[in-house]
Amino acid sequence: MVEQANEFPFQANEVIPNHIAIIMDGNGRWAQRKFLPRVAGHKEGMNTVKKITKHASRLGVKVLTLYAFSTENWKRPTDEVSFLMQLPVDFFDTFVPDLIKENVKVNVMGFVDQLPVHTKKAVEKAIEDTKNNTGMILNFALNYGSRSEMLEATKLIAKKVQENQLTVDEITEETYSEALMTHTLGKYQDPDLLIRTSGEERISNFLLWQIAYSEFYFTQILWPDFDESVLEMAIGVYQSRHRRFGGL
Ligand code: FPP
Repeated sequence: MVEQANEFPFQANEVIPNHIAIIMDGNGRWAQRKFLPRVAGHKEGMNTVKKITKHASRLGVKVLTLYAFSTENWKRPTDEVSFLMQLPVDFFDTFVPDLIKENVKVNVMGFVDQLPVHTKKAVEKAIEDTKNNTGMILNFALNYGSRSEMLEATKLIAKKVQENQLTVDEITEETYSEALMTHTLGKYQDPDLLIRTSGEERISNFLLWQIAYSEFYFTQILWPDFDESVLEMAIGVYQSRHRRFGGL
């Protein structure tokens, strides 16, 4: 179903989702439709990230999580992987001054130690450069996969039990959430709204534990074409839904 902009109009004075997570899909198809190489879609996708970061921050979103590279994306051709590993470098090189102006703080979740050195350095520098910002958290999922994240969390908890720091009965949803990569997001660790672009309606190993009660918004729009008005349309749909968390 493709929503019309006026079907669920966005209301600036209504509830804004605290945490929005986005699966940014369709860069390759966007480029192919324009007879461009796939990486041109990723480059344009980076510009969309800049636009959406600013707009989300100005709307009052507290955390914006973006799925930039999954643990499965290493299977892509080497040239494309190299390009995707260079993107955070270019992104932070050009955008950190704007992030500082907007009071946006960078966070990264994923298996960061497996990233190439230049990517890891760029990410660490951006985190350092924005660490004193107190506004929206721009949370990149880089080399992230939810099943691996949950396995690591399980191992961490098992070790604590083995070392008598925790009993089996003390393992709760809170203990488990604390062991996940999203624990640094505090009370905003679970997304309120999950958006996926490009018409695919899959979760693709993204935040499986954290999306238990999230609202989903799927759109046909390819990520490079996603803009402020589509973000508002998604929030408008979110605002129209009655959220009950399993109760009445
Ligand atoms: C999915 O499109 C997109 C990705 C795997 C990469 C996402 C990266 C960006 C949007 C660039 C911004 C990143 C940073 C760090 C600023 P796809 O290539 O799977 O598209 P397709 O399904 O049409 O082939």
